[in-house]
Amino acid sequence: MIIIVIGTPGTGKTYLAKKLARYLNYQYIDVKKLLKKNNLLINYDFKAKTYDVDVKKMNKLLIALITKSKNNLFIDSHLAHYLPKKYVNLCIVCKCDLKELKKRLVKRGYSKQKIRENLDAEIFDVCYIEAVERKHKVVTYK
Ligand SMILES: Nc1ncnc2c1ncn2[C@@H]1O[C@H](COP(=O)(O)OP(=O)(O)O)[C@@H](O)[C@H]1O
Ligand SMILES: [Mg+2]
Repeated sequence: MIIIVIGTPGTGKTYLAKKLARYLNYQYIDVKKLLKKNNLLINYDFKAKTYDVDVKKMNKLLIALITKSKNNLFIDSHLAHYLPKKYVNLCIVCKCDLKELKKRLVKRGYSKQKIRENLDAEIFDVCYIEAVERKHKVVTYK
C-alpha cells in the first residue's frame, strides 16, 4: 500500500504519517528530506523558509522509490498528490482548525504573508480539491 499524506503546511502531516507508519509498521518517507538529499529543493530561501520544487523531478524520484520498494509506504509531502493516481492507493488530507494552524505557523517563524497564504489555502481546501481533481482516493483527517 502506498499512502500519501498531504495538507497545508502545519496541519499535521508529519505528526500523523510518522505515528501511523509506526503503528502499522509502514516505512515513512520524508519527501522534503529526500528532495534536499537529491538537490531538488531549488531557490531555497532560509529567511523566508520557502523553496521551489520541480514536480516532474520529484515525481520521477518518488516513482522510482515506489516501484523498487517492497515496503508499504507513507509519503509525507504537501505535493505528493501530484503523483499519478496509479502509484497511490490512498490520499489522506490533513485539515486543521484555523486558529490552531495560525498558532503553529507563527511558532515556525513564517512571514505574515506566508501565514496568510497558507491560511487561505486551508480555507479554500486547495490540497483536497487538487487531490480530488487528480482522481486520488481521498479521505480527510482533522
Ligand atoms: N494531532 C495532533 N495533536 C497534537 N499536535 C499536533 C497534531 N498534529 C500536529 N501537531 C503539532 O503541530 C505542529 C505541526 O505539525 P506537523 O506534523 O509538523 O505539520 P506538517 O507536517 O503538516 O507541516 C507540530 O508541532 C506537531 O507536533
Ligand atoms: Mg511536515
